Amino acid sequence: MHILVLNGPNLNMLGIREPEHYGTQTLADLIAMIEAEAARLGVTVECYQSNHEGDLVDKIQAAYGKADGILINPAAYTHTSVALLDAVKAVQIPTVEVHISDPDTRDEFRKISYIRQACIATVKGKGFAGYLEGLRILKAHIAQTNA
Ligand code: DQA
Repeated sequence: MHILVLNGPNLNMLGIREPEHYGTQTLADLIAMIEAEAARLGVTVECYQSNHEGDLVDKIQAAYGKADGILINPAAYTHTSVALLDAVKAVQIPTVEVHISDPDTRDEFRKISYIRQACIATVKGKGFAGYLEGLRILKAHIAQTNA
């Protein structure tokens, strides 16, 4: 079972960026946590971060026929990107949306998520642990679908 983990814009700034929302740990810390949980679950992961919408679309398209699941924090593109929604719909790979903070309790414009309608679940407001929960949700979903 192979899972693609995507992080969108400004998540390379974790540890520096708005610690009141995102904590003080870095993207490298997050990836180490994800890789440890993946090993525990017996799944393989590829982690990719980009500040560019088209790069993320390319990565989703390239996952077609290769990844069994996608875990994505689209960051600000959550609230703006029809392109990411369409990419997930196009490849039809089970996808979980994750957010470190809970965008629904913040600015009004953060309450809209375009990608959500193509996702099997959303995990939000649980810090880095939300990514680990997202991996577990994907593994259970994929295992059930393939049973
Ligand atoms: C975020 C929430 C978004 O509103 C914001 O633009 C981000 C990070 C989160 O993980 O909490 O960049 O997706």
